Amino acid sequence: MTIDWEALRQAATVAKKNAYAPYSGFAVGAAILASGNIFTGCNVENAAYPVGICAERVALGAAVAAGCSAIEAVVVVADSPITPCGMCRQALAEFNPEVPITMVSEQLEAQATLGQLLPDPFGLNS
Ligand code: THU
Repeated sequence: MTIDWEALRQAATVAKKNAYAPYSGFAVGAAILASGNIFTGCNVENAAYPVGICAERVALGAAVAAGCSAIEAVVVVADSPITPCGMCRQALAEFNPEVPITMVSEQLEAQATLGQLLPDPFGLNS
């Protein structure tokens, strides 16, 4: 299976434009390749701050809701350097603890596996 990273990157960049981030001012877009389809998400903040949700979990929820839970690749895009937060790492690990992730910002682009970012997720090794 080949991964079209450029398509994922473009999809995440489009989703970032829809980010609702009036409190942090930090817009994030995510794209997930799942069961061969691309799903996107953006961060959606809330006046009650903890209610806000990250772009990655919005995209993950869209994929799972569509019946596509074979998570194959993730791209996350922001203007400044970004890595998925701990909660998103745990959420993704539920479906693919070794999924490859590309992290894109204006300054740098980095790749890692989820296993590198979260070596010992809760629930999978016990
Ligand atoms: N955020 C994401 O959407 N994804 C990440 O990987 C890190 C942080 C969001 C949450 C919040 O809306 C804003 O970025 C600042 O933390």
